[in-house]
Amino acid sequence: MAEHAPVLWFTGLSGAGKTTIAKEVQANLIRHDVRAELLDGDEVRATLSSDLGFSKKDRDLQVKRIAFVANLLAKNGIVVLVSAISPYRDSRDSAISSFARGYEIFVDAPLPVLERRDTKGLYRRARLGEIKNLTGVDDPYERPEFPALHLDTDGTQLFGSVEEVLNLLVKEGTVVRD
Ligand code: ADX
Repeated sequence: MAEHAPVLWFTGLSGAGKTTIAKEVQANLIRHDVRAELLDGDEVRATLSSDLGFSKKDRDLQVKRIAFVANLLAKNGIVVLVSAISPYRDSRDSAISSFARGYEIFVDAPLPVLERRDTKGLYRRARLGEIKNLTGVDDPYERPEFPALHLDTDGTQLFGSVEEVLNLLVKEGTVVRD
């Protein structure tokens, strides 16, 4: 039986950089022959969770489904990178504590910065009233209290954030630096 691999749970507002950082970490791990899989909130919503909206109940269910799949992968020795807003502390905490080796990574940038980036145009649409319940605008985001890592993507370049995550994996024994 393979040893349980870590699950890195990237949480934060839309556009903060969760998926960008997670993809870069995944690529780095694969280059070092470490098997790693990405569970991205948008992709899960396009498939497994295509029945879900953005109520608290649906978001909590989304988190549960992601945690279920993450557990299957991690217990088979695959490092899992989860990238999901996961705005509610309780459901995020119970997901992360269900993993043998779970780490919360808070990907953080001030809302005005995210509104300026607006990679998906969601903030503009929310301000125009075209979409409702956008996290951080008119829907809650409960910030992590004690994340394993707190990445400030306004003040740090992508490379710096990726390094912080890789350092965490070195410390907890998944990555061996040459
Ligand atoms: S979660 O809240 O259920 O954890 P998840 O990360 O899986 O969110 O999915 C969020 C994605 O859905 C965002 O990246 C964004 O592209 C899209 N989205 C569409 N409407 C909303 C909304 N009202 N709030 C948040 N994300 C939204």
